[in-house]
Amino acid sequence: MAFETIIVEIEDHVALIKLNRPDALNALNQQLIGEVMTALTEADANDKVRCIVLTGSEKAFAAGADIKEMSEMSFADVNLSDLFGNLGDGIQRIRKPIIAAVSGYALGGGCEVAMACDFIIASDTAKFGQPEINLGVIAGIGGSQRLTRAVGKAKSMDMNLTGRFMDAEEAERAGLVSRVVPAKKLMEESMAAAQKIAEKSLIAARTAKEAVNRSFETTLTEGLLFERRSFHALFATEDQKEGMAAFIEKREPQFRDK
Ligand code: HXC
Repeated sequence: MAFETIIVEIEDHVALIKLNRPDALNALNQQLIGEVMTALTEADANDKVRCIVLTGSEKAFAAGADIKEMSEMSFADVNLSDLFGNLGDGIQRIRKPIIAAVSGYALGGGCEVAMACDFIIASDTAKFGQPEINLGVIAGIGGSQRLTRAVGKAKSMDMNLTGRFMDAEEAERAGLVSRVVPAKKLMEESMAAAQKIAEKSLIAARTAKEAVNRSFETTLTEGLLFERRSFHALFATEDQKEGMAAFIEKREPQFRDK
């Protein structure tokens, strides 16, 4: 499918999805949301893809939902269309690992989309924020929930109530991002991380993602049981035999997703 607001490239088993509305700092309009969901769904179903990287431009990952598109909407418009609901839920349904490579602004819906990915690699220019309060609304796809789980109540309240931005260094300290890299190295480092994941057994990688995500949804006892059963289940795979044999034979494993 031909996209107009994103660019998709598949290289060495990694699908790179780049948000591409430079004139609007990658603001998330309905077309872009539809295209991102199509690209993610296609990547999830494509046997050649083993990991996904979602990124924006140097200046902005995404400056939020498109305010110009939203400004005249009524309660009925946003309620009946479940505005943006499909995006947050949709990203969460993707089973392959997704890395958000964030440079510049990741605000409002932009921050929320990044947080819906599995982890965030940030450039040292990244700025995260939930400034919806300045527009008379609040976060709508996870800014009050995923952010709180990531950075705790104090910082989440601060960001959601004052609308202030968090820079990359603070975001790393607070646990919102997994690493911070120089802006020039963002794509190199993010693609290298994706390549590393792409080398693993896809069955194991997807199971690891499911297990970590489960920790947000359940009690510790239930989560530990889920993890243990998942661990046991992986002994039914050829990839487990291959991974352990390769270690013993001091060679690189050749995973076949079986
Ligand atoms: C529509 C946007 C936009 C947005 C920027 N633009 N953000 N258009 N929606 N969210 C447009 C500007 O109108 C402008 O176009 C162009 O992008 C460049 O932006 P500038 O403001 O001129 O750039 P700069 O001065 O560098 O400031 C950058 C910025 C600022 C700090 C990121 O643009 C900003 O505050 N943007 C809004 C951030 C925000 O409030 N996000 C939350 C949105 S609500 P023109 O053509 O005018 O020059 C949200 C809700 C999510 O995300 C929940 C959904 C359920």
